[in-house]
Amino acid sequence: MCGIIGITAGAAVAGGEPPGGTTPGVLPTLLEGLARLEYRGYDSAGLALTGPGGLWRARAADGTRSLEDLAKRAEHGPDGAVAGIGHTRWATHGRPTEGNAHPHVDCSGRLALVHNGIIENHVELADALLADGHRFTSETDTEVLAHLIETELAGHPDGGLVGAVRAALGRVRGAFALAAVHADDPEVVVAARRVSPLLLGVTDGAAFLASDIPAILGLTHDFFVLDDDQVAELRPGSVSVVSLADGSPVEPVPLHVEWDLDAARKDGYDDFMSKEMHEQPKAVADTLLDRLLPDGTLVLDEVRITNAEFRAVTKVFVVACGSSYHAGLMAKYAIEQWARLPVEIDIASEFRYRQPVLDGQTLVIGVSQSGETVDTFQAVREADRLGAKVLVITNVVDSSMARESDAVLYTRAGPEIGVAATKTHLAQITALEVLALYLAQARGTLSVAAARGLLAAMGRLPAKVEAVLARADEVAEVAGACRDSPSFIFLGRHVGYPVALEGALKLKELSYLRAEGFPAGELKHGPIALVEPGTVVVAVATRTPVWEKLVANVAEVKSRGATVVLVVEEDDQETAGLADHVLWVPATEHLFSPVVDVVPLQLFAYSLARLHGLDVDRPRNLAKVVTVE
Ligand code: AGP
Repeated sequence: MCGIIGITAGAAVAGGEPPGGTTPGVLPTLLEGLARLEYRGYDSAGLALTGPGGLWRARAADGTRSLEDLAKRAEHGPDGAVAGIGHTRWATHGRPTEGNAHPHVDCSGRLALVHNGIIENHVELADALLADGHRFTSETDTEVLAHLIETELAGHPDGGLVGAVRAALGRVRGAFALAAVHADDPEVVVAARRVSPLLLGVTDGAAFLASDIPAILGLTHDFFVLDDDQVAELRPGSVSVVSLADGSPVEPVPLHVEWDLDAARKDGYDDFMSKEMHEQPKAVADTLLDRLLPDGTLVLDEVRITNAEFRAVTKVFVVACGSSYHAGLMAKYAIEQWARLPVEIDIASEFRYRQPVLDGQTLVIGVSQSGETVDTFQAVREADRLGAKVLVITNVVDSSMARESDAVLYTRAGPEIGVAATKTHLAQITALEVLALYLAQARGTLSVAAARGLLAAMGRLPAKVEAVLARADEVAEVAGACRDSPSFIFLGRHVGYPVALEGALKLKELSYLRAEGFPAGELKHGPIALVEPGTVVVAVATRTPVWEKLVANVAEVKSRGATVVLVVEEDDQETAGLADHVLWVPATEHLFSPVVDVVPLQLFAYSLARLHGLDVDRPRNLAKVVTVE
């Protein structure tokens, strides 16, 4: 998830006092806009300016210090810049280095562009461009666009930059929000959009673009929303939009917002946690994107383990903490069922001190959204010391764990600001299920056709998560009915058990209430003593292979006076009839069901915390990344 921004202010405005006093000038606007995108998190940033002196570019890859570095370099940049583009990068393809930072340029260095999204066919396009003599300088998918546009400009100069962008994007598959500038026409900024968001704004003597409202909210409250497959030409004080397909003029959708900056960063949601819960369908979809090659084989992100080594694996450990540990528990079922490998799941802080039995045929999977949690980091280091192969699943490209692993599978959830893991947790489960399929394919325990079918089923998960989110108000009502309960028990069986654990953790960390998760079969071995009238029991009652036994456990707690809340598949009236309150979810293949079934429990915990007036983004005593033991 990157942030882009662009402005054209023309010579009349750029340096001096703008008419109407609304446009402070090109460079300050870009730097202010990039700073306003900082909440999205980034590992590198860059900008390009155009003016009478040509095109000038600066990039920095030292985390949040990048902007200060950029500003210093820009002081010695060109005078009289009349337009410019800027970019903050949250790496998904290619490490966060200066060479991979945007803007990227063509061979001439006279065209620059910034991009947010993923170009799915970048490899085949790059091969063709290299064969035509183009020289690449980065590992990114984005750079392909600069050379494609260069090729189109050379072939059809009369079409101008808009025509070249349209022709180039006609060859592209994937998602993009891009902005391009060229030294030959310094006042023009061209923008285009497919899937990734892009907004435009116009004031006297200037025009702007940004991937989201906060970046340019200080300049206007009236925007235009660029729609999919539309291309815009921005000139000082004007914007014209055409269809990417045929170049016909289109009217962009106007948008007026009265938000302040804080509300804009939350995209209008009350808090980051709510915004990030609603980003979960995209986090799952992005994590699944381009995992399947045309020949049906699966790909990870960075693999330094050979297929033969994967085939030689005889045992798997998963080490993680908190919600990441729960994702690991969910993956155990899929890896054992599809890859037929024994899997042990360890709390990372326990793993490293128990002298685990590991060897060169052991695969240790570290799961950590931050890639920096010290317990997990030290656990995978211990595994490496003992000779195991280490694979890390993380949300941060080039994080400490990613750098020290033998293979990496990145979740693509984008930065998560809320301390409680939500979208990164769903993306972790998704990535672990992809890994389970990858291991099964490498070991031959699953056919290409079967893996393709399962991946297709996973492709339906984002819509199912969306359907659960649409029921947020119903969940809030159930939470309201339970708001005065002193204690909560979460139950599940099979893959529903780790879902129950995650539901209990969310409630604990957000509302500070007593909540424990148990395997439902364990109730009669002690925990049922906790049940009394007023106890709320939340059970994951979707149709796993042991659903009937779960239902029997529900009857046990109900007979002891518990208030029963059930997660139930839509149209399952039989199960719903056992509940005092129902959290409805779409029916899902049971090994994928945790991705869907955990969402109402996130919403339940969120609603209870809000009812108790608590700060859901910054719960007491907690940190987003735990870098101490
Ligand atoms: C979950 O809501 C918490 N934020 C916490 O348990 C978290 O999952 C745990 O600290 C692991 O963090 P990591 O994924 O960055 O390693």
